[in-house]
Amino acid sequence: MGTMLKKKSLFFVFTFLVLAPVFSRSLNPSLNDDVLGLIVFKADIQDPNLKLASWNEDDDSPCNWVGVKCNPRSNRVVELTLDGFSLSGRIGRGLLQLQFLRKLSLSSNNLTGNISPNLAKLQNLRTVDLSHNSLSGSIPDDFFKQCGSLRTISLAKNKFSGKIPSSLSLCSTLAAIDLSSNQFSGVFPSGIWGLNALRWLDLSDNLLEGEIPKGMELGVVCCLRAIDFSENSFSGNLPETMQKLSLCNFMNFRKNLFSGEVPTWVGEMKSLETLDLSGNKFSGEVPVSIGNLQPLKVLNFSANELTGSLPESIANCVNLVALDFSQNLIKGALPQWIFNLGSKEVSLSVDKIGGRMDGPLTSPKGSSFERLQVLDLSHNGFSGEIASGIGALSSLQLLNLSKNSLAGPIPVTIGELKALGVLDLSENWLNGTVPVEIGGAYSLKELRLEGNFLVGKIPTSIENCSALTSLVLSKNNLTGPIPAAIAKLANLQNVDLSFNSLSGSLPKQLANLVHLLSFNISQNHLQGELPAGVFFNTITPSSVSGNPSLCGSAVNKSCPAVLPKPIVLNPNSSSDATPDSVAPNMGHKRIILSISALIAIGAAAVIVIGVIAITVLNLRVRSSTSRSAAALTLSAGDDFSHSPTTDANSGKLVMFSGEPDFSTGAHALLNKDCELGRGGFGAVYRTVLRDGRAVAIKKLTVSSLVKSQDDFEREVKKLAKVRHPNLVALDGYYWTQSLQLLIYEFVSGGSLYKHLHEGSGGNFLTWNERFNIILGTAKSLARLHQSNIIHYNIKSSNVLIDSSGEPKVGDYGLARLLPMLDRYVLSSKIQSALGYMAPEFACRTVKITEKCDVYGFGVLVLEVVSGKRPVEYMEDDVVVLCDMVRGALEEGRVEECVDARLQGKFPAEEAIPVMKLGLICTSQVPSNRPDMGEVVNILELIRCPSEGQEGIGMNYLLNISIN
Ligand SMILES: *[C@@H]1O[C@H](CO)[C@@H](O)[C@H](O)[C@H]1NC(C)=O
Ligand SMILES: *[C@@H]1O[C@H](CO)[C@@H](O)[C@H](O)[C@H]1NC(C)=O
Ligand SMILES: *[C@@H]1O[C@H](CO)[C@@H](O)[C@H](O)[C@H]1NC(C)=O
Ligand SMILES: *[C@@H]1O[C@H](CO)[C@@H](O)[C@H](O)[C@H]1NC(C)=O
Repeated sequence: MGTMLKKKSLFFVFTFLVLAPVFSRSLNPSLNDDVLGLIVFKADIQDPNLKLASWNEDDDSPCNWVGVKCNPRSNRVVELTLDGFSLSGRIGRGLLQLQFLRKLSLSSNNLTGNISPNLAKLQNLRTVDLSHNSLSGSIPDDFFKQCGSLRTISLAKNKFSGKIPSSLSLCSTLAAIDLSSNQFSGVFPSGIWGLNALRWLDLSDNLLEGEIPKGMELGVVCCLRAIDFSENSFSGNLPETMQKLSLCNFMNFRKNLFSGEVPTWVGEMKSLETLDLSGNKFSGEVPVSIGNLQPLKVLNFSANELTGSLPESIANCVNLVALDFSQNLIKGALPQWIFNLGSKEVSLSVDKIGGRMDGPLTSPKGSSFERLQVLDLSHNGFSGEIASGIGALSSLQLLNLSKNSLAGPIPVTIGELKALGVLDLSENWLNGTVPVEIGGAYSLKELRLEGNFLVGKIPTSIENCSALTSLVLSKNNLTGPIPAAIAKLANLQNVDLSFNSLSGSLPKQLANLVHLLSFNISQNHLQGELPAGVFFNTITPSSVSGNPSLCGSAVNKSCPAVLPKPIVLNPNSSSDATPDSVAPNMGHKRIILSISALIAIGAAAVIVIGVIAITVLNLRVRSSTSRSAAALTLSAGDDFSHSPTTDANSGKLVMFSGEPDFSTGAHALLNKDCELGRGGFGAVYRTVLRDGRAVAIKKLTVSSLVKSQDDFEREVKKLAKVRHPNLVALDGYYWTQSLQLLIYEFVSGGSLYKHLHEGSGGNFLTWNERFNIILGTAKSLARLHQSNIIHYNIKSSNVLIDSSGEPKVGDYGLARLLPMLDRYVLSSKIQSALGYMAPEFACRTVKITEKCDVYGFGVLVLEVVSGKRPVEYMEDDVVVLCDMVRGALEEGRVEECVDARLQGKFPAEEAIPVMKLGLICTSQVPSNRPDMGEVVNILELIRCPSEGQEGIGMNYLLNISIN
C-alpha cells in the first residue's frame, strides 16, 4: 500500500520537478529530497550494466547506495561518485535536489547533452568532475556567477564549444581548472590570471587563440604550479611577467604559434621540471641560462626554428631524463656531455649537427651511458664509422642513426644491445655485411637497414630476434637466398627486401607468417614458386615484380605442374655421398661427385620434399647410352628404381658461375615430364636446383660422337665464355664417359617458333616485338662470329623469348662437339631445320663459313616479318618463303607479305627494308651476304634513320638489286 502511494507521489514529484523543484518538497515533505533527486537522476539516464541497481526508491535513505556518500550527522548526500559506470543519457534536474552535495564526479561515462545552467545553483559544490564524457554545447557566460566555494573543476575530454565563460574569474577559491580536449575557442579570459588560489591550469587541446596578455596580474597568480596551453593557437612572445611564476614546475606550450626568442629569463624559473616549447616558431639561439634549471627533467624544444649550437651549460642539468632538440637548425658537433647527462632519452634528429660520431662513443665509461634508452641522431650530417662503443649503451631501446653519412661496417657490438627494440641505420653509407651478431639483439621489433651498401647474405641468426615485426633491408646489395629462418619470426608484419641481389627460391615456410601485412621482394633475382596461402596468392604484383623467374598467380605465370609421382631411386649409398673436392678453379666452382652420390642425394631430396616438380638425370651409369635414353621414358617405379651401381663411376660437374650449393642440391633426375624439347643434339629438360634456380639441361644424345673428355671440356668452356644478353648462357656441364649434360640458363617464355606459329588467338607479336627479336638475334650472331663460333643451327625454334620479350639464341656451336665438321652429320643433325640450310651445304666445293648463319638468319627475318614457316606445305604445292617474298618484291607488292595478323599496324618504312635485308642475307652466293656486324648496323639505321650518317644503310637497302 505504502509503496503504491509513494510511487504515485514520486510520479507527481517527477512531473513537478521539471516545472518547479521547490514544489516537490512542499508536496510531500516526508520524502527525503536526496532519494527523490537521485531517483529522478537515475530515471533520466541509461544504465546498461545495472550499476545503479542498489538505488531503490523504496529506501528511506540513499546513504548505502552505490556511489553515494552522506554526511553521517545530517544524513544528507555530500558526494556522488559514478566514474566509469557506462552511464549514458543526459544529466537531468534530479541532481538539483542534492542541496548539500560537495563532490560530483561523473567522469568516464557516455553522458551527452548540455550542462544545465541550474547546476551552478548547488552552492556547496567544491569538486566537479565531468571529464571523459560526450557533453557538448557552450557554457553560459554567467555560469560561474555564484561560484560559491568551487575548488576543482574538470570538463576535460568532452565536446564543449564556444568561449570559456568569463565568470570563471569570479571563482576565487578555484585551485584547479581542467578544460583540456574540448573545442573551446576564442580568447582566453584574462581575469583567470587574477585567481590567486590557482595552482593548476590545463587548457590544452582546444581552439584557443590570442596572446598571453603582457600586463597580466601575475603578482596574484604567483603560485601556479602547472600550466598547460599545449595544442591551441596561442601566439606572440612569452611576456616577461611570466618569469614571476617561480613555483611553476610544469610548463607545456607545445604546438602553438608562439614566436620570438626563447627568453633568457626562463633560467629564473627555478622550479621547472618540465619545459616543453616544442612545435612553435621560436627562433634564435638556445639561452645559456637553461643550465640554471637544476630540477629540469624534460626539456623539449623540438620542431622550432632554433639556431646556433647547444649550450654546454645544459650539462649542468643533471636531472634531465629527456632532451629533445630535434627538427631545428641546430649546428655544431655532437657534444660529449650528451652521453654523460645520464638522461634516458636524447633526440637531436633532423638538425644540422655533424662531424664524426665515433668520437664520443670510442671509450664509453660510467653508469650514465647505461641509462640511455632512446638515442635519435637521425637526419643530420654525422660521418665516420659507428664506434663499437655503442655496445656499452646497454639499456638502449631505440637507436636511430638513419639519414646520416655514416660509413664502414655495422659494429658487431650491436648484438650486445639486449634491450634494443628499434634499430634504424637506414640511408647511410654502411658497407660490409649484416653481422651475424645481430641475433644477439633479441628484443628487436623493428630493424631498418635500407639504403646502404651492405653485401653478403641475410644471416640466419636473425631467427633469434623473435619479436621482430618489421624487417626492412631494401636497397642494398644483399645476395644469396632468403633464409628459411625468417619464417620462424612469427610476429613479422612488414618485410621489405626489395632492390637487392637476392637469389634462389622463396622458402615455403613463409606461408606460416600469419601476421604479414606486406612482403616486398621486388627487384631481386628470386626464382620459383611463391609460397602457398592467401597472403602470397593475393600479394600486390608490385611487391614481387622484377624477379623474372618467379612464378605463381601473383606474377601471372604458371608454375610447372607438380608431378603425380616422382621417380623413386634407391637412396642406399653412403660413403661416397660427399663431394670429394671443392676447389676454386679460375673463378669456376668445380665439384667432383660420384654418380651414386648424385643419385642418393637426389633420391633423398625427392623423398623428403615429395611434391616438388623434379626433373633431370637418368644417371644409370653402367647402362649404355641407349639404355639410359630408354630409361628416361620410364615412369615411376619401373626398372629404374632399383639400386644404382656402386662401382662409383665418377662424374664431373662443373658450374661456371654461382652456386657451390649445387652439390647438395642435385636432386636432379632427368624426367620425361619435364622435357622441354628435342633437337638434333639431344633432349632438353627443365629442372630446379636446390637453391631454387631453374636451369635447362641438355642431354647430348650424340655422345658417341663427342671427342675425348679434354676436348669436350675445352670446347664447352669456349662456348661458356661467350656471354651476351641475347645468348642463352651456358652455366655448366656434367661429364661421364657415357653421359654428357650441358646446363643452360632456363628461359621461360617459350621459343620464337611457338610465338609465331602456335600463338593462341590474338596473342601474337607486335611489330616492335618482332623488330626487337630480329635485332637481338642479329646481335647474338655477331657476337658469336666475333668469337669464331659458327652457330650452324639457327632457326626459330632455337630462339627463345624471355619474360621481358628479349630473344635469347640457344644451341649455338654444338657442332664443335662433333669429332669433325662432317657435312653429312651436320646436315643430318640440322635437317629438321628445313628451309634454313644454306645452299653451300649441298655443294662439296664451297667452304662452309659463318655466312651459313647469315643465310639462316635471313630466312628467320622473313619468317618473323611474314609469320609464315620457311617452307609451307599447301595442298598440292610447296611454298618456299624467300622465293615467295622475292617474287612479291619484284612485282612491287612486297607489303602484302607482312603478317596479316598485324592488321596493317606496322611502319612500312621499317618493314620493307627489313624484308629486303632478309633477302640479301639469303643470297645464294655466300660472299654476297653481309656479315652479321653489318646486319646489326643496318637494322639500327632502319629503326632510327635520323641517327644514321647520310642514310647510307637506307640507300644501300632501297637501291640494291636483289638477285
Ligand atoms: C560509450 O558508448 C559506446 C557505444 O555507444 C561504447 O562503445 C563505449 O564503451 C561507451 N563508453 C563508456 C566509457 O562507457
Ligand atoms: C617533444 O615533443 C614532441 C611533440 O611536439 C614529441 O613528439 C616528442 O616525443 C617530445 N620529445 C620527448 C623527448 O618527449
Ligand atoms: C667500407 O667503407 C670504408 C669507409 O668508406 C672503406 O674504407 C672500406 O674500404 C669499405 N669496405 C668495403 C668492404 O667496401
Ligand atoms: C652488387 O654486387 C655485385 C657483385 O658483388 C656487383 O657486381 C654489383 O655492381 C653490385 N651492385 C651495386 C649496386 O653495388
